[in-house]
Amino acid sequence: MKKYLVAIALLVFIGACSSNKASDNKTTDAPAVAAAPANDLSSNPDYQKGVELIAKSDCLTCHKTDSKLIGPAYKDVAAKYENNDANVAMLASKIIKGGTGVWGQIPMTPHATLAEADAKALAKYILLLRK
Ligand code: HEC
Repeated sequence: MKKYLVAIALLVFIGACSSNKASDNKTTDAPAVAAAPANDLSSNPDYQKGVELIAKSDCLTCHKTDSKLIGPAYKDVAAKYENNDANVAMLASKIIKGGTGVWGQIPMTPHATLAEADAKALAKYILLLRK
């Protein structure tokens, strides 16, 4: 069942990509990857670590910083949870174990090989994106 849902999610994702291209003919300067948010976080070590870890994982298949993809936009996650230790621990555990039901019925796949410290670093990074 889980695999089936992920397959659907990926199809939706692929569909979204190709429709983007079709409508994108005239806009040439839209960056493919979201730039750093307006409030400058680029020198924050938690931010730098998160960017590095996210680039190495599969998160960006399903998440974008500023808009919903298969999973919620990271800025929406940041708006929902206050940046504190309890929420970092809770989100880190969700990143490792996966789960569903908070943002909709599509499940997030587990990331069982991710070290807890890395999952916490990812959660910290996401919570930094609060506007
Ligand atoms: C297969 C697609 C997919 C991948 C890959 C994925 N996510 Fe998700 N993510 C989701 C979905 C779908 C949700 C919403 C789950 C829900 O509603 O409970 C979600 C939710 C989240 C949340 C919010 C959790 C909550 O309970 O509010 C965080 C944080 C998150 N993802 C981080 C990550 C990180 C970090 C990675 C990479 C290590 C990642 N995700 C990879 C699909 C994905």
